[in-house]
Amino acid sequence: MAFDENDPAWAPLIAAAVAVRARAYAPYSNYLVGAAVLCDDGSIASGCNVENASYGGTICAERNAVWHAVATGRRRFSACVVVTRGPAPGAPCGMCRQVLVEFEADLPILLVAWDDAAGRELARRHASLSGLLPEAFRPSALLP
Ligand code: THU
Repeated sequence: MAFDENDPAWAPLIAAAVAVRARAYAPYSNYLVGAAVLCDDGSIASGCNVENASYGGTICAERNAVWHAVATGRRRFSACVVVTRGPAPGAPCGMCRQVLVEFEADLPILLVAWDDAAGRELARRHASLSGLLPEAFRPSALLP
């Protein structure tokens, strides 16, 4: 799959991220995030952000998606979608970039801004993991 910005292959990943975003628990920031990763068996793993009254206990959507995948036996990914509110697409935090690069050196990432009132996409930005996290610290530094 080419995975350029308008590739129709993004559609099921966007749908999964939008659906899981509706379950985000974000009473403090009210910033709902949904993420979905495409696994190498063709399946999708998704996650939302889950906040905590002790703020440091908060976990991002991207990490929940990766951990959901790993916990169900999937460690190879070929694409990632992150959905946030608009007007402009958000971007994965540094720690989520680091968690993604644990499993893939590079990955196309589609960042989607969602209009909650209208229930439609507002804008998208095509990025790559290597572009978002250049010169990453990777498992090869530690593992044989
Ligand atoms: N958040 C994510 O879920 N992903 C990111 O990459 C950026 C931030 C969440 C964490 C917190 O619940 C809220 O957005 C505001 O930081």
